[in-house]
Amino acid sequence: MFKQASWDEPVIFSRGRKGRRGHIPPKAEQEIRQALGDLNSLLPKNMQRTSRPRLPELSEVEVMRHFLRLSEMNYGVDSGLYPLGSCTMKYNPKINELLASLPSLNMLNPYQDESTVQGILEILYRLERWLAEITGTHEVCLQPAAGAHGELLGTLLMRAHHKLNGDYEKRSEIIVPDSAHGTNPASAAMAGFNVVVVPSDDDGCVSLGALKAAVSERTAGLMLTNPNTLGIFEKNIDEIARIVHEAGGLLYYDGANLNPLLCKARPGDMGFDIVHINIHKTFSTPHGGGGPGAGPVGVTEELAKFLPIPRIGFNGTRYCLDYDKPHSIGKIRGFYGNIAVLLRAYAYILSLGNEGLKEVAEVSVLNANYLMKKLQGAKGLTLPYNSVRPRKHECVFSAKLLKSETGVSALNIAKRLLDFGLHAPTIYFPLIVEEALMIEPTETFEKEELDRFTENMHKICEEAYTTPETVLQAPHNTAVSKLDEVKASHPRTMALSWRMHLKKNAQKT
Ligand SMILES: Cc1ncc(COP(=O)(O)O)c(C=O)c1O
Repeated sequence: MFKQASWDEPVIFSRGRKGRRGHIPPKAEQEIRQALGDLNSLLPKNMQRTSRPRLPELSEVEVMRHFLRLSEMNYGVDSGLYPLGSCTMKYNPKINELLASLPSLNMLNPYQDESTVQGILEILYRLERWLAEITGTHEVCLQPAAGAHGELLGTLLMRAHHKLNGDYEKRSEIIVPDSAHGTNPASAAMAGFNVVVVPSDDDGCVSLGALKAAVSERTAGLMLTNPNTLGIFEKNIDEIARIVHEAGGLLYYDGANLNPLLCKARPGDMGFDIVHINIHKTFSTPHGGGGPGAGPVGVTEELAKFLPIPRIGFNGTRYCLDYDKPHSIGKIRGFYGNIAVLLRAYAYILSLGNEGLKEVAEVSVLNANYLMKKLQGAKGLTLPYNSVRPRKHECVFSAKLLKSETGVSALNIAKRLLDFGLHAPTIYFPLIVEEALMIEPTETFEKEELDRFTENMHKICEEAYTTPETVLQAPHNTAVSKLDEVKASHPRTMALSWRMHLKKNAQKT
């Protein structure tokens, strides 16, 4: 039986008491003060600190207990299964952290002279080459800070390509399937394109008939996720690529679901011209809650000239930052990308190698299909779109029938799962599945954990018919019970910092 710890833990600012402090050996303290003073004096006068920051004063053990208690009221990939669909929340090996936090790497400053950062340039150069190899593209840019940011870069590259060909004015449309993630149409619109949506067919794949009808001389490109957000591989990808290319458009690969293809199949070989990679998903960086991430973009040889500057160059002996790229779209982000995230990916790829990455893909597909089979037959759940075809990395069930028969929705199931110490899957996405439960187990959870998940899912579906109130009022065993979701997501009701909290309190009195 799971019961999450629940502490009545105040915020750390209200825990502080004047004069309390952690122990630092006096000599070390003196050295730290001296170093901070030296650093302070290097700043311009108006930016120098004249008084100590108002931080809470606490002993070491108080700080330790505070954060430990908070962590006990939390849930993460280190706690257990975290099956958010299309999010690839896998366990992140700690060796990645070790590499990313080496002082020789994390103390580097992007303003340092090129000659003093040859090591990190070599790592980034190599990572670019590895990602190009994995995706089957010609060149990769590491700058984008997220998948969505990679999408924006991709659509800007489409714009640059059509501009150079003299038909940008005419090519005003980007096509996206109805199963696409919301960032795809948003990125296309941000780059100035109109969005045309094509429906999926009965198999959950892009309808070829609808695609043929949608392409025209106005088509700038098609954005596609493969496997798509139903976990289904677009079996007509060759034909899709032909249709788009013959219409003069470019094919964009949304790499959120690259995990099941790793070292097995490459988007570049399928005809994709531009590919983004959600490094934080596939290549194991702790993510969620908005970041941090990275969304490198790989392109064909023809499009490489448009990539953002600087490009990392290598002349056989030295690495350099090359700004001399007249066709480049310019910069997409400050400096060279989210370096710590890229370093974790470097460590991950290096430690697994080609065979290891292949195994990642194979086990992630095996796990998703095992879980899908075990869930088929759960009372009230259905598997829309070709229930016999194997899935790749994820599967999407519908709780529509369950809701109509018992009143228990996908949201209620998600909340009830928390009572068993399991994270909920993604719900209500993709939009083409009513009451969607989108489940991606990844390769990093063992069979016993998958069994625990499916057994509890069956149990919850049974409860929906026998004791629906238990499910409707869940969660019961967590530190925080059912949230008022509207209130919780409204910035006016939330105090996001101690200063805001004090201000709100002052307004109340
Ligand atoms: C299919 C798909 N595409 C794109 C994105 C956007 O990626 P990011 O969250 O890295 O911006 C997501 C995010 O979950 C996704 O699931």
